[in-house]
Amino acid sequence: MGKGQNMGPLGNAGSDKFLDRRECLTKSALISATLLAFNPFHLASAETYAPNETAPDILWQVNRAEDPRNLRGVELGHVPQLKAPDTVKAGEPFEVGIIVGKNLHEMVPVHYIDWIDLYAGEIFLYKIILTPNFTQPISTVTLTLKTSTTLKAIEHCNVHGLWEGTKRITVT
Ligand SMILES: [Fe+2]
Repeated sequence: MGKGQNMGPLGNAGSDKFLDRRECLTKSALISATLLAFNPFHLASAETYAPNETAPDILWQVNRAEDPRNLRGVELGHVPQLKAPDTVKAGEPFEVGIIVGKNLHEMVPVHYIDWIDLYAGEIFLYKIILTPNFTQPISTVTLTLKTSTTLKAIEHCNVHGLWEGTKRITVT
């Protein structure tokens, strides 16, 4: 490259020379293929989500604790724990804490909680989306109820699927 010549954004010499369409598409395809081949998140998610006949049942249903007061095994790290008063006054704001797992679930790129939803009965209330490494599967939201209901938190683990935890709230 001679003195005074500029490098274009993709390394072509000369500011007046641009990639033609075919060359640009070829380079884009090569870059995309390289990123897909070496992206560990892509590989992990493909293995995790690929439907097959040997996938365990927990990946095909909403999982619940057999005995919510005595969590066991995989339940310990996955059943959402709802922290809220048993009784609240109608129309009066109160806080609900949501923690994924009696033993807090890990948040590493190959195994993490990617979202948590909260419902009052069948009514959707709230959603948080989480990022591994940077966040923890813990949240607090302020609610106001008019009638008694069962709060239901559903979370999704990228390895172990959907898990539900509930708490009855009585409104006086
Ligand atoms: Fe998990």
